[in-house]
Amino acid sequence: MTKPVLKVQDLAVAYKVRGGEIEAVQNVSFEIGRGESYGIVGESGCGKSTMAWAVLNFLGANGYVKRGQIFFQGQNLVGKSSEELRQLRGDQIAMVYQDPMQALNPSMRLGDQLTEVLMVHRGMGKEAATRRCLEMLEKVHMPDAAEVMRRYPHQISGGQQQRVVIAMALLNNPALLIMDEPTTALDVTVEAAVLDLIAELRREFDTAILFISHNLGVVARVCDRVGVMYAGEMVERAAVHEIFAHPQHPYTQGLMRCVPRLGADKGSSQLHPIPGRVPPPDARPSGCIYAPRCDYARPKCRTERPLLRQLASGTVVRCHFAEEIDPSQWVPTDDILVAPRAVATETAEPILC
Ligand SMILES: Nc1ncnc2c1ncn2[C@@H]1O[C@H](COP(=O)(O)OP(=O)(O)O)[C@@H](O)[C@H]1O
Ligand SMILES: [Mg+2]
Repeated sequence: MTKPVLKVQDLAVAYKVRGGEIEAVQNVSFEIGRGESYGIVGESGCGKSTMAWAVLNFLGANGYVKRGQIFFQGQNLVGKSSEELRQLRGDQIAMVYQDPMQALNPSMRLGDQLTEVLMVHRGMGKEAATRRCLEMLEKVHMPDAAEVMRRYPHQISGGQQQRVVIAMALLNNPALLIMDEPTTALDVTVEAAVLDLIAELRREFDTAILFISHNLGVVARVCDRVGVMYAGEMVERAAVHEIFAHPQHPYTQGLMRCVPRLGADKGSSQLHPIPGRVPPPDARPSGCIYAPRCDYARPKCRTERPLLRQLASGTVVRCHFAEEIDPSQWVPTDDILVAPRAVATETAEPILC
């Protein structure tokens, strides 16, 4: 078997805060192969971005990898100095954020920003770099690429800005592309077009993608496998088709009730947000961390922490009673119903799901 591009093993990431530290991510393991797209899903505050920043070593002054390993193309990144990391990763890991303006310089023409990537990192001449950037903008289906090269970021739409950022990320032909909520700030039509683009580019470039989203429906459109994170922990890992056919963890089942069913008539399906909130890292309950919000919690769930275990289907789940839960028998315990449209058009930081 070929080496995975990224292998995260038993990762714990902590932030130093006044009066101690908090573990924002604990016990997270997964791996991504070449050309594979791996989804990480979970509500806001579950540690998804922290995990991604740990891979890039961008945790900020107060964050650090407390336990575990991060192998990038077979080499462990944990414990290396910033300079060693820069050399190890080279231009091989690229990142796309929720807000494209985080990656763009507002006072520089887009053409200069794009060509700079190739001129500085690859030593290309201006003319060759411009040609390559135009080709790349066409690959991301940017209309009128030559004109876009002359514009400043604020002169194009948010969807177009995100296409530029994706093009910029791909210019170095990275082995790993990390996308953290890349379509969350876009409206639904633009989001759908950008997701199609990501799926297409992934086939063409054979890049490994770590795709982060709070929306399981979005993950299903671009990923092969998915890890579900809740309050800093991985609670389920499975193939995307398996998650949709047989979601095992009650949290995964809850997330699925928050997205319109794939293929179902969007106008007719009801969405059920999960009541309650993600506990902050310093106030996780003992026992199962999801127990206070779980419809199926029993006394054992409040006292004994479930371990990750593999089921016959290949799914890995952190729940004592996964086999006994039949999601088709689920009925809402309260009457909060959200019209699908209200969630689908949500652009702000998600609170419900
Ligand atoms: N720099 C930081 N210092 C302290 N706590 C942080 C910092 N960044 C994130 N956190 C905390 O870590 C947890 C996970 O946050 P984050 O990784 O942003 O989650 P997500 O991306 O899933 O929304 C949250 O409780 C958040 O408040
Ligand atoms: Mg985040």
